[in-house]
Amino acid sequence: MTLKTINRRTFIAAAAFTIVKPQSVRGSKANSKIEIGVIGNGGRGTWISFLFQQHGGYEIVACADYFRDRVDNFGEQLEVDKKRRFTGLSGYKRLIDSGVDAVVIESPPYFHPEQAAAAVEAGKHVYLAKPIAVDVPGCKSIEAAGKKASRNNLVFLVDFQTRTDAFYKEAVKRVHNGDIGRVISGEATYHCGATWERLYPLYEQGITNELKLKAWGIDLALSGDVITEQNIHALDVATWILDAHPLKAAGTGGRYRQWGDCWDHYSIIYEFPDDVILTFSSKQFGAGQDDIQCRMYGESGTIDTNYFGDVKIRGKKPYRGGTLYTLYPDGAKYNINWFHESVTKGDYSNSTVAQSVRSNLTTIMGRLAGRTHSSMTWEEMLASGERLQPDLDGLKN
Ligand SMILES: NC(=O)c1ccc[n+]([C@@H]2O[C@H](COP(=O)([O-])OP(=O)(O)OC[C@H]3O[C@@H](n4cnc5c(N)ncnc54)[C@H](O)[C@@H]3O)[C@@H](O)[C@H]2O)c1
Repeated sequence: MTLKTINRRTFIAAAAFTIVKPQSVRGSKANSKIEIGVIGNGGRGTWISFLFQQHGGYEIVACADYFRDRVDNFGEQLEVDKKRRFTGLSGYKRLIDSGVDAVVIESPPYFHPEQAAAAVEAGKHVYLAKPIAVDVPGCKSIEAAGKKASRNNLVFLVDFQTRTDAFYKEAVKRVHNGDIGRVISGEATYHCGATWERLYPLYEQGITNELKLKAWGIDLALSGDVITEQNIHALDVATWILDAHPLKAAGTGGRYRQWGDCWDHYSIIYEFPDDVILTFSSKQFGAGQDDIQCRMYGESGTIDTNYFGDVKIRGKKPYRGGTLYTLYPDGAKYNINWFHESVTKGDYSNSTVAQSVRSNLTTIMGRLAGRTHSSMTWEEMLASGERLQPDLDGLKN
């Protein structure tokens, strides 16, 4: 499995799952299913919906995507009533109003803050794909929505896979307990091939505002750029291990790819509290290297984590950990189950939100420093006033 294949699921992969028919379990509150509406019915939205179905505790009752062919494709596969398939930019509002218990948001990142805030406002639980947002105001909006969800007895879960894994959790706990001594420096990397290659023809044939909603991954305002949209997996692990946000970032990067306005490689040096230096590097072109890694060097040991490989500690207090082969689906299954348990047991602590805001802001800081080939402090990033706004002129509501 490569980053390219796991990140952009095809409908074929989704079809490989057994379709669990909705059971007749209504009537008793104890065994009622959570009724969900899925916003964004593309690759991951479709793929993850089969996992929600397989869980057995959910019923997919509504779907929304900008494009009619996407909702219908989704609706046919997941057996969603035609009357509850919504299109256009505000389709998500009609989905929320149609009476779901929870929303699963799998749309392009630019739309996450407005869609999540509207769901919480309407009293719905939220299951949200990473990244939470593309800019600082978006991160603040998600932070507020997460807090409001907790106040209003709603679950708000951000779906990161690494944080769910037992080896990752144990290794990070041991670092926090001092098993590698004081951390001095580290590396976070996300290296993969040309994730969006299949969408280049949309640019070659003449891109429109509407088509950008399909090729959003190479559009800066819709995706937040590669560092926020993809590389966040590596920086989320780094900020988790260090349990801090960076104080300063300096960097550079560029674009090898011809299409879109996203960059496809970044090199950033982050300074964390206690003089910890993190070297971050990413690329999204070429072939031959596919992994999301984070390694931290302490006075007496090294923590080494790989999304597609070993998670372990070497040094004076080693931890053997283990090798990961299926974190991509396993992490989603874990989160789907956790979301269900949180809703049914009434756990509204919503612990994934703050960690997601921190790592998302870390990616934005790297993007701002990298794109200006300069340095930036955390405070300067927060005060930057940058707001990414795609051109939505001419799009259907
Ligand atoms: N490992 C992971 O956790 C992981 C992996 C892949 C994708 N993702 C995230 O999942 C989300 C979706 O990614 P994807 O790979 O499925 O992309 P995709 O392009 O396959 O699907 C996105 C869908 O959203 C639709 N859409 C566009 N604008 C919309 C709007 N305003 N309202 C509703 N729908 C809209 C598009 O038409 C498309 O069908 C992204 O946030 C991405 O970062 C997470």
